[in-house]
Amino acid sequence: MSDKIPVVININNKDVTLNIESRLLLVDLLRNNLELKGTHIGCDTSQCGSCMVMIDGKCIKSCSILAVQCNKKSIKTIESIGKENNLSNVQKAFNENHGLQCGFCTPGFIMTAIECKKNNLSTEEEVREFLDGNFCRCTGYQNIVKSIISFLKMP
Ligand code: FES
Ligand code: FES
Repeated sequence: MSDKIPVVININNKDVTLNIESRLLLVDLLRNNLELKGTHIGCDTSQCGSCMVMIDGKCIKSCSILAVQCNKKSIKTIESIGKENNLSNVQKAFNENHGLQCGFCTPGFIMTAIECKKNNLSTEEEVREFLDGNFCRCTGYQNIVKSIISFLKMP
């Protein structure tokens, strides 16, 4: 008997019907089953935030939730945020303020930056506190914070 469970998940504005194992993590569904490799895995302790996605408009670490728990939910990954030749404002802000070096952590920070804006954050202190769940191993955070503040000021 198969232990697969049928789910329908809206991923980047498209309903996707899947049969998945109950133990499958959302991050593995995105990366391995759906080839959405922009969502990264940077730790095995749910600390780094590289796997951050939006579920029903809220940032969630996709390594900390089972894919079956996302049945009938709406997920946005980094692939839905702008295109290489048509960057979104948040990507422009990171680009202009040198908010990345190797870029491994960047998808997670971009998703968190979008939530900062949704939550109407404005000060450096608020942004730094909100970034508690995202690690960057290269930049020292200064330019990431600068990028997000610049994004928050955009219309
Ligand atoms: S891979 Fe999810 S928090 Fe690090
Ligand atoms: S830019 Fe390299 S980990 Fe953040």
